[in-house]
Amino acid sequence: MDDKNKVLVTGGAGYIGSHTVVELVAAGYTPVIIDNYSNAEPSVLKGIEKIAGTPIKFYEGDCNDVSYVENLLRTEKNIQGIIHFAAYKAVGESVLEPVKYYENNIGSLLVLLKLMKKYNIPDIVFSSSCTVYGQPDQLPVTEKTPKKPAESPYGNTKQVCEEILEDTVNSYFQNKNEQHNLKAIALRYFNPVGAHPSSLIGELPLGVPNNLVPFITQTAVGLREKIVVFGDNYNTPDGTCIRDYIHVVDLAKAHVKALEYLSNQEKAQFFDTFNIGTGGGNTVLEVIKTFEKVSDQKLNYEIGPRREGDVEQIYANVEKSNTVLGWQAILGLEESLRDSWAWQLALKKANE
Ligand code: UD1
Repeated sequence: MDDKNKVLVTGGAGYIGSHTVVELVAAGYTPVIIDNYSNAEPSVLKGIEKIAGTPIKFYEGDCNDVSYVENLLRTEKNIQGIIHFAAYKAVGESVLEPVKYYENNIGSLLVLLKLMKKYNIPDIVFSSSCTVYGQPDQLPVTEKTPKKPAESPYGNTKQVCEEILEDTVNSYFQNKNEQHNLKAIALRYFNPVGAHPSSLIGELPLGVPNNLVPFITQTAVGLREKIVVFGDNYNTPDGTCIRDYIHVVDLAKAHVKALEYLSNQEKAQFFDTFNIGTGGGNTVLEVIKTFEKVSDQKLNYEIGPRREGDVEQIYANVEKSNTVLGWQAILGLEESLRDSWAWQLALKKANE
């Protein structure tokens, strides 16, 4: 096997991870997945392999388990870079169980950084979130938009992990005796939606979904009775919140670009952040209307109270990702919702 482009993908069986593994194979990389299935199904691997047309190395284990990850690195050898998805992501749960979130989300990054140094792995791409901006004072947000205090332990883990990466890069820079040429990129995702157009992989929320689009598709397919729109008295054109919905396949491709950028980066000790969104925003009602159009379904929805902690509106300025990474979103809201719906129907068929 050609090890030149071997990449460890933590959380590679998850929603964004699985789509990224597919794009890595398409770009000539050899992804190696580590996932503990805490929020993923073993069946995902089959879907990935079917699309990719090749077997994928898979390790079932926890990124917080330093000896497990170390054994993996010893076995695999020659891992050139890491894409670190593995993390908990439910905002509400993080408020109830902060220790679980801090331990898992921060602990796993620390394990990776320690081992990256020991095994001389230079590059890491980290899954961050637009949640680091809170409700920004100016829209669209650029990477220079000041961060706001995190609204939840989940949001805080994203901010802290970005800081850990930056501090670690700077520490090696200042301490010339250190030999580790760490280079890191944090990708700040806006709202990932959609599924692979093959309908072989997609989002698999455990239990009741927190996010808008899986809630919409589960309602349309009859798994939920109705969807509640969280507030219609915001200062937006139709009163509902605005988000930047990015197709998961476009998002997956951004990771490949980030990895390429890092490996071409001559300068050691490099850290940077990039917004990954479409550059535009849609209201909740626009999402619902667009879903009704592409699915030809009438959605049972009602207006309810605001959800605590929601920001009114946020969407990305993506100039830096466009120009520096050479990445841009191709797919729009219609394609995203079409693919989410096709995926939901494929799941239904598989369960019949
Ligand atoms: C949420 C998290 C964010 C995280 C992201 C990961 C919160 C407050 N924020 O973002 O930190 O990075 O998920 O994917 O949870 N909506 C409804 N009805 C619903 C569900 C959602 O009206 O049943 C609305 C929300 O008010 C929001 C929009 O849909 O305006 C999108 O919500 P969601 O998919 O939960 O994403 P975010 O809240 O943007």
